[in-house]
Amino acid sequence: MNRLKTKIGNITLNNPVMTASGTSGHSNELSAIDKFDINSLGAFVTKSVTLNARKGNKQPRIVEVPGGILNSIGLQNKGVYYFIEITISKLQEFNIPIIVNVSAPSKYYLIELYRILKKVEDKFDAIEVNLSCPNAKGGIIAPLAASTYIRITKDFFGDKTTIAKLSPNTNTVMYAEDVIGAGVDAISMINTIKGMVIDIDTQKPLLGNVRGGLSGPCIKPIGVQKVYECFNKIPECKSKKVPIIGIGGIMNYKDALEYILAGASAVGIGTGFFTNPFIFEEVKEGINKYLLEKDKKLEEIVGISSKE
Ligand code: DHB
Repeated sequence: MNRLKTKIGNITLNNPVMTASGTSGHSNELSAIDKFDINSLGAFVTKSVTLNARKGNKQPRIVEVPGGILNSIGLQNKGVYYFIEITISKLQEFNIPIIVNVSAPSKYYLIELYRILKKVEDKFDAIEVNLSCPNAKGGIIAPLAASTYIRITKDFFGDKTTIAKLSPNTNTVMYAEDVIGAGVDAISMINTIKGMVIDIDTQKPLLGNVRGGLSGPCIKPIGVQKVYECFNKIPECKSKKVPIIGIGGIMNYKDALEYILAGASAVGIGTGFFTNPFIFEEVKEGINKYLLEKDKKLEEIVGISSKE
């Protein structure tokens, strides 16, 4: 029996462990790891695809801080034309759901991006709308605009599973309610938290782009709390009609279980992968062992720490 099966919108994942957008590129990074089987993931989530190619922000773009990292990549990617012509056929070779993360600074860019992405819509399984990039102009989409982004996505792609990646730099429950009202199928949270570091020798900000997004174990309690709040306060989340993907600082299977017990039906791993290329497999095995010991299926433990 597969205890790990989980559902996000209308896609079924063999297990709940997926990549967090932006941390495994468009899969080359994973293919380069010896003995790593991409098909063992629950799903693959791409780095944000934008309308035009982006070179990314000024260096330095990444700095280590206690308990995590601060990054300011700036949505570097080759743009949607390259994505539909080259990348998508490579991703299609995998036997797991492919989730395409998209980012656009305005609804006009989003519509243009979708016009092109639509040409390969049968080649991917879900869209994750990045409403929360801290490092690009127009990257953080305010709640009202966020619901417009979701409506546009649903208009273009109909039944295809649409996920909203929410910003932690705002009231996440209200934000989630807005996108749920607009018809989103699932929500993922949290994205990175805005922060900065100053070099006391040069007396200047360390990152080339001054501000960055904080990730890693230091943000996990924030992520768990936000998942817990949304699960408890939003009926569509509690009933799992709109499942939550828990992301933020997962470094091992125990961290992933915290998110699941708080209300997440799946988890995304990003920064943890930078220090342990086998983290996905280890988290999957750890959750499976836990479920075996408790004689439960994953879906039976989602949100059971909920007290309200
Ligand atoms: C970037 C985008 C994100 O959504 C994020 O959380 C962190 C960094 C980026 O490309 O800069």
